[in-house]
Amino acid sequence: MNEILIQDTSDFFKEKYGNVPTEIVLSPGRINIIGEHIDYNDGYVLPAAIDKIICFTFNKNNSDTANIQAIDLKESIVIDVTKEEIVSEIVWTNYLRGVLFQLKLKGHKIGGFNCAFSSNIPIGSGLSSSAALECGFLFGINKMFNLGIKPIDMALMGQSAEHWVGINCGIMDQFSSVMGLENKVIKIDCRTLDYTYHDADFVDYSLILLDSNVSHSLYTSEYNNRRIECDEGLSIINDNHPEINSFRDCNEELLIGLKSKMTDNVFKRSLYAVKEIKRVIQACAALDKGDIKTLGELMFETHQGLSKDYEVSCAELDYLVDLAKAEEDIIGSRLMGGGFGGCTITLVKKGSENAIKEKFTKLYAAQFNIELKIYDVKISNGTSLYKTN
Ligand code: GLA
Repeated sequence: MNEILIQDTSDFFKEKYGNVPTEIVLSPGRINIIGEHIDYNDGYVLPAAIDKIICFTFNKNNSDTANIQAIDLKESIVIDVTKEEIVSEIVWTNYLRGVLFQLKLKGHKIGGFNCAFSSNIPIGSGLSSSAALECGFLFGINKMFNLGIKPIDMALMGQSAEHWVGINCGIMDQFSSVMGLENKVIKIDCRTLDYTYHDADFVDYSLILLDSNVSHSLYTSEYNNRRIECDEGLSIINDNHPEINSFRDCNEELLIGLKSKMTDNVFKRSLYAVKEIKRVIQACAALDKGDIKTLGELMFETHQGLSKDYEVSCAELDYLVDLAKAEEDIIGSRLMGGGFGGCTITLVKKGSENAIKEKFTKLYAAQFNIELKIYDVKISNGTSLYKTN
């Protein structure tokens, strides 16, 4: 499927700009096995890059102008790369402008270029198409102009670009888009950015993504709110226990002791963060041992926490996880990504995938009158140059 996308993107580029692209960059979306909303809370996360990608094609054009074509949207922009970037009303362009802004901030000098891109990462599904957009664009510019930006710095600059757009996200999405490896999940320590690769071997189970096909508009404001609430929780902990500067170093008992000093919401967000940090460590150990049942149970627990304590779920996602809980052939399921819509990630017994897909599609449509979308994913490499033979 990606071969066709790459061919079509290159053909488009040739048609539009009159020459073949010198750089073709593939930048993936990501899944996350467990560790949600704790990348900005000094936690661990367990994501992986997937085989859904944005394909970018580039050429330098010896001018000061960047011509950029979003093939799928049939929209293009022209940017003077010597000028200061400002946020635009055309949303998709801001992820790219944010990258250009970061490049200037870090003192990198670039010239003009032509670019066309096309994607098969579903938007608004929690698969992080925006990180793929930032990281793929930056990767291509880095190559064309030999800027020497290292992969992890690329992820950090992508994250800053997203902040520039207005979402105060953590590092997980950009890190996994850049650092992904085929058939490996990455355990990222978001406090230090140390990371280890672990086999993505779910033994008798397959990972499937069930896309609720809804994306609630609360996302940005509520996401940013959660960060503020967590900061408040942490500052109350720190006021009372000056030696603790991170949820990582806090435990449930200590937090419960401070409950009366916090608003109900701040307490619940903090409790979720402390518990989820622990769960990822247990989940990764379970995965390493091939104990997929324990991994699945932890995923269900995460969903419960995200729904009741962190309150980033919605009726559609809760329904999908409740259905999953009632199935003997499903051992784990939870909402994935920021929440308020998008996908659940679900561990289904091998051989039962089709029956589950059919059943859930019918039940979901009957409940919400919405089509359930389903994605099988392959765990794949991070952002990279496509090598033509
Ligand atoms: C979004 C953000 C990430 C992370 C997840 C929730 O995808 O971009 O940084 O916080 O939500 O885990």
